[in-house]
Amino acid sequence: MSETARELLGEIEAFLAQFLVTPSKFGVAAVNDGHLVAKLRKGGSVTLKTADRVRAYMASERSKQPAAPRQVAPSHRVLLIIGGGIAAYKCLDLIRRLREHAIAVRAVMTKAAQQFVTPLSVGALTSERVFTELFDLDDEREIGHIRLSREADLIVVAPATADLLAKMAGGHADDLASCVLMATDKPVLVAPAMNPRMWLHPATRRNVTQLEADGMAFAGPNIGEMAERGEAGPGRLAEVPELIEAITKMLALSSQALAKNGGENRPLIGRHVLVTSGPTHEPIDPVRYIANRSSGKQGAAIAVEAAALGARVTLVSGPTQLAEPPGVEVVHIESAREMLEAVRRALPADIAIFAAAVADWRVASRSDEKIKKAAGQGAPRLELVENPDILKTIAAEKGGRRPKLVIGFAAETQNVIEFAKKKRRAKGADWIVANDVSPETGIMGGDRNAVHVISEHGVESWPDLDKAEVARRLMARAAKYFAELTAPA
Ligand SMILES: Cc1cc2nc3c(=O)[nH]c(=O)nc-3n(C[C@H](O)[C@H](O)[C@H](O)COP(=O)(O)O)c2cc1C
Repeated sequence: MSETARELLGEIEAFLAQFLVTPSKFGVAAVNDGHLVAKLRKGGSVTLKTADRVRAYMASERSKQPAAPRQVAPSHRVLLIIGGGIAAYKCLDLIRRLREHAIAVRAVMTKAAQQFVTPLSVGALTSERVFTELFDLDDEREIGHIRLSREADLIVVAPATADLLAKMAGGHADDLASCVLMATDKPVLVAPAMNPRMWLHPATRRNVTQLEADGMAFAGPNIGEMAERGEAGPGRLAEVPELIEAITKMLALSSQALAKNGGENRPLIGRHVLVTSGPTHEPIDPVRYIANRSSGKQGAAIAVEAAALGARVTLVSGPTQLAEPPGVEVVHIESAREMLEAVRRALPADIAIFAAAVADWRVASRSDEKIKKAAGQGAPRLELVENPDILKTIAAEKGGRRPKLVIGFAAETQNVIEFAKKKRRAKGADWIVANDVSPETGIMGGDRNAVHVISEHGVESWPDLDKAEVARRLMARAAKYFAELTAPA
């Protein structure tokens, strides 16, 4: 059974269940599609044209239904740009689910997209006019490409074709979709879908790298079966629930940032922020390691905040129990040496924040086999050697390799400010964020933090705050400093 047929059958079954109709009563006007349902249930195939007609029928039937008794005012508005790929039909379900989440959707379709789904079905589900033309006088008078891009809280490109990725990476603006993308100052979520060979093609690889550097967030593609028979690999559109999750997270982030900055919410757009976080694990043997109590919460909160301010964020994280923050590239490492290597690979960065609790020492020679307890031999002696100093190493990088703002963290249990001041000078960091991690403070592993920000200008002591609030204040301070540093003289 083809992918299209399987998906269509799923949608029809949901429709039949929702409207309590039997297959013999299912179909467009007088045309009975009961035979189609029976055929699909037996694993038969379907043409794209028929699938589109059936979807348009279901969409129009749904739109005739009386409004749900409790209408929720839309909390956010998404501009959905639908590209011309085989997965375009999945947008119908995406739109429906977004509206269930009280998210209003306005759609722009490329010319190619209209070969796969009709503006009629898309419009029936968005309950709005669908925009397809750049040179449409009515559109320009009523709502042109600038307004389309500005009136959304988030732009979602799904499916993003290889062609759309190339246009976006190259800054083209020769149709409505690409023009809107060029004119926007809003966050953009890109959900690619294409044949695996197209996805793995060097041109697409280059375009994706460029778009990530430009601050675009990606959802998928997933690895799996393609619509074409016998084709599998990376290139499947992310599933609708995954898209919904990515969209709602991005909307939540942009609302936070908007509330904070009164609209001027993305001062770090086009910037790369590197954050380290969590503990490191230094192996003793294959099953034992030296670790510390760091939870990674503070570093992850900083990464989320940097992304909300528009930055492309790389989070190099030691082992933690936390979910990966949305819109952030996470590199998982275990030891201090792996962390240094990952940090070096992630450079260049504009701002680097070293919040990880890196082990100062590792075992000189880890055992390849589990160390056995042998009667009469006593405890093994572990010789420790110093780990590389990641903060000092990166702060000492030369030329463009040194991030313009290097922020280190200092976890102390006594003389917090004095030790942190010395650390700033010794490591060559611009700022040190110092905190008291004595067990009675509950800071290490907890949800709150009380920090002192130490710079060449002195010490700023912040009250006891939620770690998310520490992250907000720190990133706001960093963004302001960075703007002053890079402002034209
Ligand atoms: C049947 C068929 C299926 C296609 N599926 C895809 C696809 O899944 N992803 C993709 O990138 N291009 C796909 N293409 C190619 C695009 O439709 C083509 O590159 C088009 O110019 C994209 O236009 P747009 O980016 O303006 O939407 C497909 C073409 C055909 C004929």
